[in-house]
Amino acid sequence: MKDFKAKIEEHKKRFEKALSRAKDEKSLQEVRNAFMSRKRGELKLLFEELKTLKPEEKAAFGQMVNDLKIHIQEKIRARGELKVIKKESAVLKASSGKIDLTLPGQKEYWGSPHPISLFQQEIENIFIAMGYFIEDGPEIETDYYNFEALNFPPYHPARDDWDTLYITDDLLLRTHTSPVQIRAMEKRKPPIRIITPGKVYRRETPDPTHLPMFYQVEGLVVDEGITFAHLKGTLEHFLKTLFYEKIKIRFRPSFFPFTEPSAEIDIECTVCGGKNEECRVCGGSGWIEILGSGMVDPQVLKNVNIDPEKYSGFAFGLGIDRTAMSAFQIPDMRFFYENDLRFIRQFTLK
Ligand code: PHE
Repeated sequence: MKDFKAKIEEHKKRFEKALSRAKDEKSLQEVRNAFMSRKRGELKLLFEELKTLKPEEKAAFGQMVNDLKIHIQEKIRARGELKVIKKESAVLKASSGKIDLTLPGQKEYWGSPHPISLFQQEIENIFIAMGYFIEDGPEIETDYYNFEALNFPPYHPARDDWDTLYITDDLLLRTHTSPVQIRAMEKRKPPIRIITPGKVYRRETPDPTHLPMFYQVEGLVVDEGITFAHLKGTLEHFLKTLFYEKIKIRFRPSFFPFTEPSAEIDIECTVCGGKNEECRVCGGSGWIEILGSGMVDPQVLKNVNIDPEKYSGFAFGLGIDRTAMSAFQIPDMRFFYENDLRFIRQFTLK
């Protein structure tokens, strides 16, 4: 009995000695094999020997061999973990001098909305807050919706100002968002309160304030008792909100075949402030025309079967790009479409 106990002690001592000598991963592995190998490891042999003992000795020695096994396992595991920690801290140490934590991280660029889209959203939000619906219409229009229903008779000289690309004699790229007025009035009954943003096309030579394709937002209100005062109040509120109260506006009498009376709205030139006689944005006048408006012509109401004796309305069409130019103080509208990311990325929603 004593013999076996001494044997276990001896094994333990040899293990401690071997472990203390193991200085690297390889020699640790050797110790692990020598004592724990399931084939010929020392523990395995001890367990084999247990079988030869008398039953009453087996229990006590079995417990001792088991304790030794746990002891060896834990010591080897602890040593292995220590190695890993040492290795990691060595890597950190080696790199710590080389990582400059004050440098900005590498950011992914996820893209951003185009400034015109952002500006259109701001416009939409102001009108949504006033209870307007947003309507859409086709960019390829018929002659009827783009001109005739809006009171432009065939061959009328007023059409010259709205010349465009024709797809067939009857189909054309719409020159304004006003045809959506007609489509909306055909679909809905008064009271009507809508805005319709979208692209429009014209025969224009590009310059700082003109493009052959640009964005407009149309507005239309039809109800009983609508007057020019509603038009003025609405547009003043809209522009003051859009420009944070910091803009001068003026109404100027004008003419459109589909409104009577009509007015255009100018805002002060934010590029030169009216101080540069050669300003390419306002031509030195200090004012930029951004919007056409007026009371819906009774003939237009008749064209869509709305009784002009009972109902009246106002409409307006705003050039989004030109207004955005003023809001962002950009001296040339063409910048919006040159796809220079250094320009495009500067804009975010306020
Ligand atoms: N459609 C006109 C234009 O493009 C603007 C306008 C809209 C005028 C609505 C009056 C009423 O110039």
